[in-house]
Amino acid sequence: MSAMASLLFHLLCCLTVFWLLPLPSHSADPDPLQDFCVANLSASISVNGFPCKPASGVTSDDFFFDGFTQEGNTTNAFASFLTPGNVLSFPGLNTLGISMNRVDFAPGGINPPHSHPRASEVGVVIEGKLLVGFVTTNNVYYSKVLTAGHMFAIPRGLVHFQLNVGDGKALAYTAFNSHLPGAAIVPLNLFASSIPNEVLTKTFQVDADLINTIKSKFGS
Ligand code: GLV
Ligand code: MN
Repeated sequence: MSAMASLLFHLLCCLTVFWLLPLPSHSADPDPLQDFCVANLSASISVNGFPCKPASGVTSDDFFFDGFTQEGNTTNAFASFLTPGNVLSFPGLNTLGISMNRVDFAPGGINPPHSHPRASEVGVVIEGKLLVGFVTTNNVYYSKVLTAGHMFAIPRGLVHFQLNVGDGKALAYTAFNSHLPGAAIVPLNLFASSIPNEVLTKTFQVDADLINTIKSKFGS
């Protein structure tokens, strides 16, 4: 390689590195541009996040949230209840790129397979015994049974679940690097939406009766 070609090659490598360097900062919510931006949830304009409430109207209460003090009502088909502490329930989180959930489980309860399009998740088990698992885009399954004090991590966008495998109740808190991570809940996406039955029968290679039976479990 001539000296000129070698110089060009090195220049190209440097440019590529400089171009890639900022990418990790785009892997979660963008950094805030001010100390805080308590969400004005009723603003009529829509931006990527919520507009800020005027600073003159911000009070201490905007930065505290008591939504996790009550146990969730687990009397439902999944025998679990997720209480979100995201920007919608806790507007002080707006633009901070963080949020949490409280997840309660009755015995046998499940937080069904779902994914978060905008965040990775970490969680800690506070009470009980949970099977926590996720599946990669190559369909590799990773899981472990966790008890109080154990923590888990779910990479962004991957399908995961928690199942109460203990004899009593279970409780976990989860946290996200987004103020609104979003949740695509697999069974509801597929069987509680208006995806045509033909798509589902062909996808799962079963007849319409079976699809209708599953749909009826989700009230559709
Ligand atoms: C658990 O997976 C949660 O999303 O809180
Ligand atoms: Mn989750």
